[in-house]
Amino acid sequence: MSSRGNFNSKFGFIAAAAGTAVGLGNIWRFPFEVANGGGAAFLLIYLGFCFIICLPLMLTEIAIGRHAEKDASGAFKHLGFSNWSILGKMGIVASIIGLSLYFVIAAWAFGYIIEILIGNFAIGSQFSDYVKNVFKIGLYGLVFLSVTAFIVSKGISGGIEKAAKILMPTLLIMIILLGIYSLTLPHAFEGIVFYLVPDFSQLKLTVIYSAIGQAFFSLSIGMAAHITYGSYVSKNDNIVSSASLITIIDVAVAFFAGLMIFPIVAFISNGTFENISGGPGLIFETLPGVFESFGDVAGVVIGAFFFLLLSFAALTSAIALLEVPVTYLVDEHKIKRKKAVVFMTVFIFILGIPSLIGNGYSEFFTNFIHYGSQNEATNFLTFLIHTNDLIMISGGVLISVFAAFIWKKSNLTNEIATGFPNYRDSWLEKIIGILISYICPLVLIIVLFLTILDRYLGIALI
Ligand code: PHE
Repeated sequence: MSSRGNFNSKFGFIAAAAGTAVGLGNIWRFPFEVANGGGAAFLLIYLGFCFIICLPLMLTEIAIGRHAEKDASGAFKHLGFSNWSILGKMGIVASIIGLSLYFVIAAWAFGYIIEILIGNFAIGSQFSDYVKNVFKIGLYGLVFLSVTAFIVSKGISGGIEKAAKILMPTLLIMIILLGIYSLTLPHAFEGIVFYLVPDFSQLKLTVIYSAIGQAFFSLSIGMAAHITYGSYVSKNDNIVSSASLITIIDVAVAFFAGLMIFPIVAFISNGTFENISGGPGLIFETLPGVFESFGDVAGVVIGAFFFLLLSFAALTSAIALLEVPVTYLVDEHKIKRKKAVVFMTVFIFILGIPSLIGNGYSEFFTNFIHYGSQNEATNFLTFLIHTNDLIMISGGVLISVFAAFIWKKSNLTNEIATGFPNYRDSWLEKIIGILISYICPLVLIIVLFLTILDRYLGIALI
């Protein structure tokens, strides 16, 4: 293999790729999407999308990256289809937009470490004032972005990868323990019913497109991340099992985060689920009160540690989000790595300002847009999440069409089979072939079409 280097082991790759996938998406976004989507019906659809649509797409992205051994945009050129490098560029744009909103949420989480360390458990009920304090949050955001930039400028292999291997499992154990504790709270049962017993009468179209957007975001699909990481994977690896493991780990973290949060939501609302924000504030509003119930010392220690781990999970994802455009600038425009990092970080911080001030501070960005389908205004940050979802999903359509019909299925199979000889002519090859060629593009095009009609134009077909 070339001098670009490789992941040292399959475990190293899985840890890094899982670190990219597991982040705020699992612990911050997943619970409020489930809450908005009416609970278990959302969960089921989400799981379906993760395994039937996103897993084959992740496998395809890794295969393209490994075959080309190039950055997201250069990969398509290398395979001989220069026109398709636009697809890599879409992923790069999605990563930039993604990080511009991601660092704002990470800043909220980071600030919570400090609030809880000083014993301010009331922060949960003061959340709407907290996010309005844009100078404080802006400063935390700057710190978070600077740490991300520093690590990306150094390369990620040594420190962050090692730390992630320890800290990520710690986060999962902590979520499971908190989950067990939250099951002992009054009304926990109602929370579990809401989360795990589907009520399909609640099923609306919005649930379907929220679920697919969440699945793409959480598994980092359609954002060029897996093409980039895949370019460093050894030819001997069985990438079907790698992609499956990454998906299972990511889904498991989200699932347990749900088991932790819904009993708490039920407890706080006396089992009614009323007056609970089903929006980006959900975990920030509900968790501090629970930490407080542990008592002064234990509450501070456990609460601060939780938000520390959450910030760390955000960091490993933010690194990938920054790495994608930086690799592109370095590989395609021959800009020095350090320069590219500084330029991108400053650009992303400025791009993030509307997301930062659109949470009560600036009227304009707080009530940014009225979708055709809704009475209430949507703020800039949420608008960006939705816009990014559409870019990622469009990326998913194009990746599947590219792999199946342009690059051709036989090449995809050859690449997968280099590390997994039995793949050729197996039932797995047939299933993945059908999913990539027909099911993924068809389902995604239908979802895109319905989303645009419903959300933006207010025309609900189903
Ligand atoms: N998957 C990450 C999360 O759930 C976000 C992310 C998306 C990271 C795309 C890298 C690339 O938080």
